[in-house]
Amino acid sequence: MSNASALKEYLSFCQARVETALQNRLPEAHILPQTLHQAMRYCALDGGKRTRPLLTYCTGNTLGLAPDGLDGLACAVEFIHVYSLIHDDLPAMDDDNLRRGKPTCHIAFDEATAILAGDALQALAFEVLAHDATINATAETRLKMIATLAKASGSQGMVGGQAIDLAAVGKQLNLAELENMHIHKTGALIRASVNLAVLAKADIDPAIARNLDHYAKCIGLSFQVKDDILDEESDTATLGKTQGKDKDNNKPTYPALLGMAGAKQKARELHDMALDSLSAFGSEAQLLRDLSLYIIERSH
Ligand code: IPE
Ligand code: IPE
Ligand code: MG
Ligand code: MG
Ligand code: MG
Repeated sequence: MSNASALKEYLSFCQARVETALQNRLPEAHILPQTLHQAMRYCALDGGKRTRPLLTYCTGNTLGLAPDGLDGLACAVEFIHVYSLIHDDLPAMDDDNLRRGKPTCHIAFDEATAILAGDALQALAFEVLAHDATINATAETRLKMIATLAKASGSQGMVGGQAIDLAAVGKQLNLAELENMHIHKTGALIRASVNLAVLAKADIDPAIARNLDHYAKCIGLSFQVKDDILDEESDTATLGKTQGKDKDNNKPTYPALLGMAGAKQKARELHDMALDSLSAFGSEAQLLRDLSLYIIERSH
């Protein structure tokens, strides 16, 4: 089997797996308050590429961990991600009305419900990390997992990156500032997706953990570089979100700063750096290598 088709098969397996795992952890739609639970399910289920859960499963696979022990971790990162998308789409932020091929949460429901659905998904992520039966870890490791996701999500992670993004509207950022924004708003959660699986591996060699963290840093940045490229080059139907919004919203992006060829070159360099970080691994890290390529070559 070619690398690309092995990854595709694993991707489908993980997408189906995480869909069921998310279903099982979300409050059912008939439970009060029903509208809130409907909104959480509407946004979290049946959509998205599930790249972050896939990263958790692929990292686990590289480390010899079975997927059954990773479902809780994969759901926790996806819940944070979905919450970040709901809030990112609000009128006060990017003001988008299409997400994952469907009307955004505040359009399908209303703004207050969208804010609350995001809040509740964020809380659910930490509840899962604290209690989920699939996470086979000591109390001390669980605390490290909670701290890892909290740091990646908060003002020194994703939320901080979103604040930098909003403050940068209409401004000319230099390359270092743009990189800092992307590392926070998108890179931090992608890094956590890998590091949660690393934490699940008891007694991991610190050098291996460092290599995987470096890999995660590289792909976390390349993921947003590619997101910027797609916003300019792709189309709304393929993306499932409105194409061209970065320009409309006057956002600083990699193509805006480096030009399209420069942005593509940057994505390629980050992919090469990600591969370098995995040089100490053999075939057990092939899915991670393929995933890095998928991130810069994806069409949506
Ligand atoms: C979009 O993330 C927002 C960014 C952080 C770039 P994804 O491209 O992973 O969105 P979904 O989960 O597939 O919808
Ligand atoms: C969002 O970046 C990053 C998040 C933390 C959600 P974008 O604003 O570029 O994401 P899209 O393009 O709307 O998915
Ligand atoms: Mg945004
Ligand atoms: Mg946006
Ligand atoms: Mg974008």
